[in-house]
Amino acid sequence: MLENMKNMLEKADNGKYAIPHFNINNLEWTRFILEECENLKTPVIIGVSEGAGRYMGGFKTVADMVKDLINYLNITVPVALHLDHGSSYESCVDAINSGFTSVMIDASKYSIEENVRITKQVVDYAHARNVTVEAEVGAVGGEEDGVADELAYAKVEDAVKLVQETGIDFLAPALGSVHGIYKGEPKLDFERMVKIHELVKLPLVLHGGSGIPDELIKKAISCGICKININTELQIAWSKGVRKFLNEDSKVYDPRKIIKSGESTMKEMIKEKVMLFGSDNKHI
Ligand code: 13P
Repeated sequence: MLENMKNMLEKADNGKYAIPHFNINNLEWTRFILEECENLKTPVIIGVSEGAGRYMGGFKTVADMVKDLINYLNITVPVALHLDHGSSYESCVDAINSGFTSVMIDASKYSIEENVRITKQVVDYAHARNVTVEAEVGAVGGEEDGVADELAYAKVEDAVKLVQETGIDFLAPALGSVHGIYKGEPKLDFERMVKIHELVKLPLVLHGGSGIPDELIKKAISCGICKININTELQIAWSKGVRKFLNEDSKVYDPRKIIKSGESTMKEMIKEKVMLFGSDNKHI
């Protein structure tokens, strides 16, 4: 069932577990994620970046595909279709009008005042249409940054301001995680995480979930993280299966066989994350 993220994340916040956000790149990935999450009885968030949206033929194509697959596969667990790192008001409006149930507006690269202004605009448009909104404060680094530097950490007062002045549903405070593979041990600021969670009283989101050691993930969940974004580790798992298949069979050329050869390694990774996050059997 396609729904926004409110119910699933509030339940996760109360129950001290986290809902997985998995990024998609194509129809097959969507299918693998939906099938495995149905199997594990976990709610799931399908994340779509702007780049992935363009790659798949625009947000409307993506939304129609996700809806049709949910029907075709008889998926009964709650599914949210979420714009990941929406870079502008216009991009969020496009996703909402295309049928997304949730959007992230990422105006974190601007001053906090500008971040508040853009985020509030998105909240007003989204809430009138029953769409939930996630926003970011601080800066989640990229692969090139390796470990996040001190400046990237969200300031507590900025987090409170963004929540109070916009009415967002979920907050993604940058607290030391980075997108992609970590070059060193991530230095998550748990103290600040607890403080922000206590003050803003909203489910928190952890970006850059790939490559964070299990113990740190569990600690983050105990500190208020209710949604964890995974992209890179799914890509690595899928590629591993495909690479092995192609190495073992140099004559295969059927694209369906090639793309499907990453299914089992990808589903194993999905299961590993769901079990770690504790969201299995939360929808029976
Ligand atoms: P990773 O690529 O590190 O898993 O991060 C994904 C993410 O945060 C998407 O928003």
